[in-house]
Amino acid sequence: MSEPKQVVLASNNQHKLKELKALLGKLPIDLVPQSRWHVPSPAETGSTFFENALIKARHACSLTHLPAIADDSGLVIPRLDGEPGVRSARYAGEDASDAENYSLVLSNLVDKQETFDDCRAYFCATLVYLSNSNDPTPVISTGIWHGRIIEQPRGSNGFGYDPVFLPIGMACTAAELDASEKNRLSHRARATLEFVQLLERRLNT
Ligand code: IMP
Repeated sequence: MSEPKQVVLASNNQHKLKELKALLGKLPIDLVPQSRWHVPSPAETGSTFFENALIKARHACSLTHLPAIADDSGLVIPRLDGEPGVRSARYAGEDASDAENYSLVLSNLVDKQETFDDCRAYFCATLVYLSNSNDPTPVISTGIWHGRIIEQPRGSNGFGYDPVFLPIGMACTAAELDASEKNRLSHRARATLEFVQLLERRLNT
């Protein structure tokens, strides 16, 4: 059997490494975080999740000369014109906490005199694989998780905006789900499912 192909994960997030390693486990790849090559994080200057994932993957490819996988994700609220969007991680400032970020969402909805009645929102995650920094055909997969924003945060599991996000058809927030259930339903889970199939096909061509 041939050696697994080394692929750089364009992230220094250990949680993502573990999650993706498990999900991509059946593919013949050895996923290694970019910190192994001391790759610094690039500026995420894109205005879409796809552009930012592509920036991260291309940056890792060009510094390591290896294939790379990157992801980008966030929360989109149509009543806030798509905010927090690609700025989800730093919505209330560069070093803002999760609570500061979701509190700003709630206060912006109040400021805009928006009601919390059926305030639709969705999480989006986009995954990208590039075989090299000039790869003209990146493997791309996007997952969406629909829900709505509630006024009173609930739950202590998960991270980010989970306490104010009520998934469609559910009575508990994303922060009240246990990790295994969230990992089955989430935008990242949906993106990864399709990504595994697309990447498997690419690796076999
Ligand atoms: P990144 O993909 O690690 O850059 O995450 C972007 C930001 O989006 C996170 O810091 C969170 O604020 C938010 N986000 C992404 N996925 C989730 C999720 O599953 N739950 C809650 N917030 C999330």
